[in-house]
Amino acid sequence: MRLLLIGAPGAGKGTQAEKLSARFNIAHISSGDLLREHVRDQTSLGQRIKSYVDAGDLVPDALVMDMLRKPVVAASEAGGYVLDGFPRTVDQAKAAFEVANRLGVEVQAAVHLYVPDRELIRRLLARSRGSDDTEDVIAHRLEVYQQMTMPLLEYYANREWMFSVDGTRTPDEVHEAIVSRLEKLAAFDTTEERDAASA
Ligand code: AP5
Ligand code: MG
Repeated sequence: MRLLLIGAPGAGKGTQAEKLSARFNIAHISSGDLLREHVRDQTSLGQRIKSYVDAGDLVPDALVMDMLRKPVVAASEAGGYVLDGFPRTVDQAKAAFEVANRLGVEVQAAVHLYVPDRELIRRLLARSRGSDDTEDVIAHRLEVYQQMTMPLLEYYANREWMFSVDGTRTPDEVHEAIVSRLEKLAAFDTTEERDAASA
């Protein structure tokens, strides 16, 4: 199973990706977590991207693509992935499609989690993950989402494998809503995936 999770900062992408990863025995790949690991470990990529992540700006597409290629291909071969936080722009989506199409590992479903801004801000301030969870940077991340990622939702809007889920309910309720929508998609038989996961 190959899934994308799209949503604003604080929408619950990480929370839902973990649940989907456990349920369907697929890899959870978070672009943000991987980027933060590079910053923490002060790798050469980490040094190039730190200022973007700290400011809440998007890291240049090519750097993100290069970082994700290997883990995504490996996960596809091992049974699938849930990609959390990528793609985030129309350009990333187009570039990723080209690579995936060549390898025969195109995405099978994209889930859009929607949560009103007020609740997003409340969640992020309550959590405070680090340098990008200050009030100013959160406001900027929300702006970047509107400008850069909302057009991606429009770009995907007519795809039958894209759907939106209300992300304001409890994490378990959101998870069940996602699974029930996935079960309605023709692209995969979730029962089979579960059987494979428990075999
Ligand atoms: P990234 O790490 O992706 O951060 P984000 O999009 O800002 O979102 P978060 O991780 O903060 O929130 P989330 O949606 O995962 O929610 P979570 O489950 O944690 O990106 C960080 C930075 O990396 C970017 O700014 C950019 O610089 C760079 N980057 C990443 N990807 C990139 C890309 N593709 N291209 C370019 N640059 C990129 O939940 C949030 C909080 O709410 C938690 O405390 C959680 O417990 C709580 N919560 C979750 N669900 C619920 C619920 N249902 N009810 C109540 N509380 C809930
Ligand atoms: Mg996250």
